This record gives sequence, structure tokens and C-alpha cells, in this order.
Amino acid sequence: MRIGIIGAGQLGQMLALAGFPLALGFRFLDSSPDAPGARVAPIVTGAFDDLASLRALAAEVDLVTYEFENVPVSALQEMAATRPCFPPVEALRVSQDRVLEKELFGRLGIPTPPFRTVDSRVELEAAVAAIGLPCVLKTRRLGYDGRGQRVLRRRADVAAAWEALGAAPLILEGFVAFDREVSIVGARSTTGETRAYPIVTNTHRAGILRVTVAPTRDARLQRAAEDHLRRVMDHFGYVGVLTLEFFVERGRLVANEMAPRVHNSGHWSIEGAVTSQFENHLRAILGLPLGDTSPVGHSAMVNFIGTMPERGRVLAIPGVHLHDYGKAPRPGRKLGHGTVVARTAAERDAVLRRLLRLIPR
Ligand SMILES: Nc1ncnc2c1ncn2[C@@H]1O[C@H](COP(=O)(O)OP(=O)(O)O)[C@@H](O)[C@H]1O
Ligand SMILES: [Mg+2]
Repeated sequence: MRIGIIGAGQLGQMLALAGFPLALGFRFLDSSPDAPGARVAPIVTGAFDDLASLRALAAEVDLVTYEFENVPVSALQEMAATRPCFPPVEALRVSQDRVLEKELFGRLGIPTPPFRTVDSRVELEAAVAAIGLPCVLKTRRLGYDGRGQRVLRRRADVAAAWEALGAAPLILEGFVAFDREVSIVGARSTTGETRAYPIVTNTHRAGILRVTVAPTRDARLQRAAEDHLRRVMDHFGYVGVLTLEFFVERGRLVANEMAPRVHNSGHWSIEGAVTSQFENHLRAILGLPLGDTSPVGHSAMVNFIGTMPERGRVLAIPGVHLHDYGKAPRPGRKLGHGTVVARTAAERDAVLRRLLRLIPR
């Protein structure tokens, strides 16, 4: 059995690594021949919307999945015509547009921040008046790691934000003064079996995930997150791993966005859960029984962004697992991560503090 993965970034690489013990083979499609995945499986080099490259990938594999949400929907439809392709194309289409995503959440009874579609300067003024300050202006499509966003705190910020982002279709959202941010990762298999991981707490800086702490023990929030996840999965007849990101505002979940794929806030599960999100994604798309999502201890994951800490100093901290994606350093780029697993939350927090001393503040 060979699986095609569109995108050969670190998520694709970790998917392939999780599949080797199950005797699965992999091929990637990526525009870069030296993307991280190149170290573990062959890459078909080509653009994600190039039909010849997509056909070349399809010809070599039994099943197709993808590791990032900016795969053109038309490319995935092309694949889905010849090979089973998961997660479903419709989930990808909705997740690519922040307005469609929030409208779906609304229809499914999942709370979101207030939002308005913005296609002109006049509409931006009207949306700011309706939603109030502070608020966040975002591009509807193609944003990631906080790119394509501006926080508007004063009336005077409106002009500069419009100047920076006005060329693209936009969404204006109310700014959520959150207590914290949490996410839930879950899997649904072709058989309809579903499992969810415990919710985790995420800390972002400049829009980029920096630290995930797992698990977050809060039975009420866990129930609500699982309920929301189930609604989205059922809506799409979903297959694979799905992630929902939330703000916790005055003790209640407010949905931020969804990702129809394995997620950075699930990386802790490689060492910190009985079955990792990567293995469960593969089990789900192959219709195999899903693995236990229970945590095996108290975990924290730290992203290495822009620069890698010295390898020896990370590995010198007992209980830390290092993942170096082998990427060239660049400001704002995710280059690797470190995961701590400990028996108690206090031990975890102590090791986490040591790990955080190795990265820029
Ligand atoms: N409406 C909002 N209110 C408060 N903070 C926000 C809002 N939208 C985004 N943020 C902050 O920016 C981060 C990145 O935004 P997000 O919409 O998740 O975009 P991305 O696709 O880049 O992850 C969020 O995790 C949160 O920390
Ligand atoms: Mg996000």
C-alpha cells in the first residue's frame, strides 16, 4: 500500500515516519525537491495545480491525502476522480475561506466572534462601526502563521490596514479578549469510528504557535470541544484528522478556525499520547481501527521558529525529544520542535522552563 501526500513539509514527513511501522510506502508532491519529506520518501516535483504532476503522483499511489490547506480545490478534485482522496474536498474548500468556515460554524451552532465580509473601503468602515474596536482584519484566503492579519485598535489604524490588505477579499472579526487558546484534534475513519485527543492549551506569539501544553484537564470544555468537533465531522462525512482552534472567552469556547489535517498543536502526541495524530490520520484514511488517544503523561511542545537551538543543549535536558525538520533558517519559519513528556504537570513545567531558556524570548 502506497500513500500519496500533497505537500512534503514537516507534517508530510511526520506522516510518513508514522506509516513505516505499518509497512506503508509514500510519495510526495511538492514544488521543492529538497522539502523536509525528501529525506524519507521520493518527491514528485511540481506545482500543486499542475495536472501532469498530480497525475504522476496518482499513478504511483493507491490513496491520496494532503498536509496543508492551500492545495487548490481543483487539484484535489482531479485526484479524487482517480484515487480515493481524504480528507474530503469539501472540507478543504470550506477551510480555505475564513468566511465560509465561520458561516458553517454558525449553521452548526458553534459560537464564533462577530464577523463581517469586507470587499471595499466603505464596507470596512461600516464593519468597524458595526463590530467596534478593537477588531481584526484578515484576508479570507491563504493566511497562515498570523500572515495577512492586522489588529485595529484605533480609528487611525483603519487606513493602514486597508492599505496593507485591501487588495484581497477580507473578513473583519471582533477581537476576542481571550483567557487562553485551546485546540482539539480528532480523527474519523472511513468506517465512521471517531476519537478525540484531550484539548490542549496553545500560546502564540506574533500569530505563530509557540508552545502547546497537553493535556488541559477541563471536563466541561472537553465535552464542548468534542461536541463541536463531532458536528463538523458529521457535516462533511469527514475522514482523517481534523483540528479546531478555539478562544476561551469567559470560560466558554469561541471557534477561531479549522484545519482539515494533522496540526502543529498535535505534535505532542508523537511521544505524549498512546497513538500519535499522524498514525491516527493514516489509520483513519485506511479504514483501520483508530488508536488510543489518551495521554501517557504531561506534555509540552515548543516550536523552534526562525533559529534552531543548539542540538546538544536541547538533548542535554532529560526527557526532551528533538525534532529538527532540516530546513534553512528564515525569520518566522518553523524549523523544528521539542517535546517534553513528564509524569506530573509540575515536572513537565520545570523541564519546559529549561527548554524555553534555549529559544529567543
Ligand atoms: N479575532 C481574534 N481575536 C483575538 N486574537 C486573534 C483573533 N484572530 C486571531 N487572533 C490571534 O492570532 C492567531 C492566529 O490567527 P488565526 O486566525 O488562527 O490565523 P492563522 O491561520 O494564521 O493561524 C490566533 O491564534 C490568535 O492568537
Ligand atoms: Mg490559527
